[in-house]
Amino acid sequence: MASETRQYVGAIDQGTTSTRFMVFDRDGCEVGRHQVEHEQLLPRSGWVEHDPAEIWRNTCTVVEQGLEDAGVAATDLAAVGLTNQRETTVVWDPRTGAAFGNAIVWQDTRTAALAAALDEEHGDLIRRKAGLQPASYFAGGKLRWILENVEGVADAAEQGNALFGTIDTWLLWWLTGGPDGGVHLTDVTNASRTMLMDLETLQWDDELIAAVGVPASMLPEIRSSAEEYGTTRGDGPFGAEVVLAGDLGDQHAALVGQACFEPGMLKNTYGTGNFLVLNTGTEIVRSERGLLTTVAYQFGNDEPVYALEGSIAVTGSAIQWLRDQLQVFDEAADSERLASTVDDNGGVYFVPAFSGLFAPYWRPDARGVIVGLSRFNTLAHVARAALEAICYQSKDVVDAMIADADLDLEVLRVDGGITANDLCMQIQADILDIEVSRPEVIETTCLGAAYAAGLAVGFWSSTDELVANWTENKRWRPTWDDTQREEGYREWKKAVERTLGWAH
Ligand code: G3P
Repeated sequence: MASETRQYVGAIDQGTTSTRFMVFDRDGCEVGRHQVEHEQLLPRSGWVEHDPAEIWRNTCTVVEQGLEDAGVAATDLAAVGLTNQRETTVVWDPRTGAAFGNAIVWQDTRTAALAAALDEEHGDLIRRKAGLQPASYFAGGKLRWILENVEGVADAAEQGNALFGTIDTWLLWWLTGGPDGGVHLTDVTNASRTMLMDLETLQWDDELIAAVGVPASMLPEIRSSAEEYGTTRGDGPFGAEVVLAGDLGDQHAALVGQACFEPGMLKNTYGTGNFLVLNTGTEIVRSERGLLTTVAYQFGNDEPVYALEGSIAVTGSAIQWLRDQLQVFDEAADSERLASTVDDNGGVYFVPAFSGLFAPYWRPDARGVIVGLSRFNTLAHVARAALEAICYQSKDVVDAMIADADLDLEVLRVDGGITANDLCMQIQADILDIEVSRPEVIETTCLGAAYAAGLAVGFWSSTDELVANWTENKRWRPTWDDTQREEGYREWKKAVERTLGWAH
């Protein structure tokens, strides 16, 4: 494929709340995009589902409209990359493409008891080999739940008529032909979120598979994050054959999009949840403080690069909760305006442990609290406390990373929606006592998937080119003194204590 004559790279980002397609040029600048939201299905408390057919339909729509918006033909694309919400699990019949029920989303807590049992019996094995703290979060337990609870799946699996995939796998299968020859693949980063892959061999592991209790025959082949996986179908949304060449979980893609290629570089993505990923190089660093060890990325046959990750379940979604459930403001962006009307939190701390607490606590029994209220307080203090909660939760993770990786951290690279909120970013710098830096291109997740695809086909020759593309847009510097910082954090920790053990 003559990538010199093809001037662009495309990327599909299938996220928790929406799907987008973007087109980038050689400088990593956006040429066009389209985005569509999908429905969040909440059939019971703690359950979160997506309709996989809707996700595929939306993918088709965003590709078609995104190309139109960019004014680019599919034949102008040197390659297409794919990135996705991780851990979300779908099982389908390869003869028809019909899914066995809805996808179980990463936030869904229905497998909490199973995860606790896994921790009890196989916790050491899962931590050692998969690098993960057993939790309802990961895909392996969700697959086991589907096998045990969705009618017909176990039998279909035995007959080879049920495939498992995370969303990247589901979309790659459809994009390359679906029932008519679609490929059944995933990449090392997505596989590292299942509790089924050995971090050292980068292959499915028999012991882990036996521990989690799922059939190996349902699992996709594991590939690197940047190589040619197949071509899109001419009768699919691209309307032409285009090479599919990048596949990364969204947080890994954001690390790549932020050009964090050196050990010790850290990014924080602010979405519905927050995800901090620290590049630890080719070394597997095992956390003693509740972080996950994960594959950062593997480009082709290069050595894999590993990372420590701190996943926080609820950050931006706490702002949405204030907007939608409590109707504190009409638009999420108004949180900044309201919180700016007060000088500080007025003693209020908000810990939005709606789905328990993820890193570094891993306490499924935690539930949200707003504490420290007095008659003096207003909704402005609560809004400010919500912004601070995003930043304090990030500090919990950053502190664990600094200790685990023996790190001297100078700057935190940030991306995601809330980075548009100046007040929140200033609070982040103040709470961390570290400078916070936002790049010019904040669509780092899509960009990272495009980079992986472009590297695989030689559109970009090396990561040096990608580093050169990264430019800073804004930097926030700490202003709090030590006393203010220490007192605030002490109170935050007290508030976290109040959440623990609330749900049984
Ligand atoms: O692990 C879950 C994460 O990948 C979801 O990210 O941005 O789709 O909410 P996002």
